Amino acid sequence: MPSPIDTVPGFVLDAVRKALSEGRLLAFTGAGVSAESGIPTFRGPGGMWRNKRPEDLATPEAFRRDPEGVWEWYHWRRARIARCRPNEAHLTLASWAWAGGVRIVTQNVDGLHDLALELRRPGSLGQGGAGSSLAPGPGSGPPRRGPPEPPVRLHGSLFHTRCTACGNVTPYPFEDDPSEEGPPTCRQCEGLLRPAVVWFGEALAPEDTDRAFRWATEATVTLSIGTSAVVFPAAQVPLTTLAGGGIVIEINPEETPLSAQCTLHVRAPAVQAVPALLGSPGHP
Ligand code: OAD
Repeated sequence: MPSPIDTVPGFVLDAVRKALSEGRLLAFTGAGVSAESGIPTFRGPGGMWRNKRPEDLATPEAFRRDPEGVWEWYHWRRARIARCRPNEAHLTLASWAWAGGVRIVTQNVDGLHDLALELRRPGSLGQGGAGSSLAPGPGSGPPRRGPPEPPVRLHGSLFHTRCTACGNVTPYPFEDDPSEEGPPTCRQCEGLLRPAVVWFGEALAPEDTDRAFRWATEATVTLSIGTSAVVFPAAQVPLTTLAGGGIVIEINPEETPLSAQCTLHVRAPAVQAVPALLGSPGHP
């Protein structure tokens, strides 16, 4: 069977290997990286928006108008996503992150990059081993340079809440009350909690954008994986690498507005293309 990277030119493969060895490869991901984990994308057929208009569910105005309705949608999404596991694309990136080769900037709020990093933690049971179908972990690869930098979650996290009164951010659901019904309230001040995600019309956290754009500038190669590249400022991340003279490889079965500008477009699902392109730290 042909590999999705059969047509990738040698100079691009060399640049990828060099970037991995120097820790200057950036993975910029969107909903498509999690598609094969069973999480619908936003804009595709059967997408997350559940035939609703985003502005009815994911804006501060919608939340003010109908907090119960908005929470109902987030409870539904979280319950669905909590059953999903990282796929080979998340796991390959996680192995390389532990090996110091890759940094991750994601638009996803599903937490699967974080879970993959936990599974690839050296010594973790999820990190390969006899009988495992997972790729070898960083234990067999180049020397590790300490724990990976946490992924930048540009659009926040489904598994955290923020208090609309005191601003406190907490993991959610609460360990001592895992029920997911109605709008939850703050344990500190009893204010109304909201999902700790970025809604349309809201600014991204400056500490997140600062880190994302610094990494995009430092990257010699950025992989734009599974994103329609239409939501800004996030979609500016791969363009920043291009503007600095770096290479951008788009991994997406479909055409996007980035396709015409990037160095190369690999038209394959992330679960195939990412492991084929990066290998694993033990077997690049
Ligand atoms: P989209 O749903 O807009 O785009 C998903 C992309 O993934 C599409 O271009 C698909 O072609 C591609 N895709 C589908 N399956 C794939 C696979 N197996 N492998 C690789 N690619 C695949 O999702 P995002 O680009 O993430 O923001 O959307 C960006 C933002 O818009 C989201 O973060 C969210 C949404 O509104 C907020 O909620 C603020």
